[in-house]
Amino acid sequence: MSSSYEARIGALASGPTIDLRSDTVTHPTEAMREAMYRAEVGDDVYGEDPTINRLEELAAEKTGKEAAVFVPSGTMGNAIALLTHCRRGDEIVMGDRSHTYLYEVGGAARLNGSPVRPVPTLPDGTLDRARLAHSFLGDDIHEARTGLLCLENTHNMCGGRVLSAATLRELAAPARARGLPVHMDGARLFNAAVALGVPASELAAEVDSVQFCLSKGLSAPVGSMLAGSRSFIEEARRVRKLLGGGMRQAGILAAAGILALTEMVERLAEDHANAKKLAEGLANIPGIAIEPETVETNILFFGMRGADGQPGDVAPLVTAAASGGVLCSGGDDGRIRAVTHYGISAGDIERALTVFAAAMKEAAAAPVA
Ligand SMILES: Cc1ncc(COP(=O)(O)O)c(C=O)c1O
Repeated sequence: MSSSYEARIGALASGPTIDLRSDTVTHPTEAMREAMYRAEVGDDVYGEDPTINRLEELAAEKTGKEAAVFVPSGTMGNAIALLTHCRRGDEIVMGDRSHTYLYEVGGAARLNGSPVRPVPTLPDGTLDRARLAHSFLGDDIHEARTGLLCLENTHNMCGGRVLSAATLRELAAPARARGLPVHMDGARLFNAAVALGVPASELAAEVDSVQFCLSKGLSAPVGSMLAGSRSFIEEARRVRKLLGGGMRQAGILAAAGILALTEMVERLAEDHANAKKLAEGLANIPGIAIEPETVETNILFFGMRGADGQPGDVAPLVTAAASGGVLCSGGDDGRIRAVTHYGISAGDIERALTVFAAAMKEAAAAPVA
């Protein structure tokens, strides 16, 4: 971590804004900028970008897979996985709170022409086992054939919950029993690995393919990796080209990705500690509803409890916190999301808690519309 980056973040932190909306707001470190400047590049569609080739080898090694491909975003990495695993029209099984189901623009329907079978997501980020067991089709001529099971780890909408290797194995079992592939949206795979104290490869070993993001907690400016078997990744490269994701001298971006994987993984533990501290502090503010014991990584959700014990409208709290310099995301499901990351220090958490306490008083006093 370079001092000028620290200084820049420090200036931000002591200034008006503590940005807890997402870990996607992280900026590249000074070391990343330097590596980007110096990156050796070539035409990656010809396989000639040495920096991308190095990043792909590193990603394959970290996930314990035969190969990996650099893609522009997590959304594209997941879309490529769905298109590579499935035939057109195959049904895809995924959680009803998963990012791929909710926030990837209906890609399974639009790109694969696939029906999606949403399985109820449990608060711990796993899926309803009984429903999952009955979600695989294809024996009956009336049914679409199931082509893929998707899992998410850590689980964003469940508050960064972590799925262990044993849990992944258990959830994958019904798909495995039918010889079906399993894809993991591991946008925050390394948060899961750090929280569990295991190598990412131990989690990735339970699935056929995994997508992880370089541009979230790992702080690279752009990019995700999709990893799997050599033949899967060969086909994934063709699909990436189809989607317009074949980049040229993108070694400039991959250079930052290499540092994301070599220098930014271990420090995710700091983000997890900060999230826990924020959750515990929020639990002490009257009227805030949160379960700090469920906070395992860098994402937390909380709500407001009215005098009658019923959930309150969080919009005034989000607005009041923003005017105090703390940004967070107000969901339409009555919850607020806060995400810790490289740009957030332990001191920022203290300040954020002071702002939330004041904002809560202000929000509680706001007239009901
Ligand atoms: C769990 C999960 N998967 C996938 C994505 C998509 O990543 P991207 O924004 O790079 O497309 C996100 C983004 O926040 C995410 O949280």
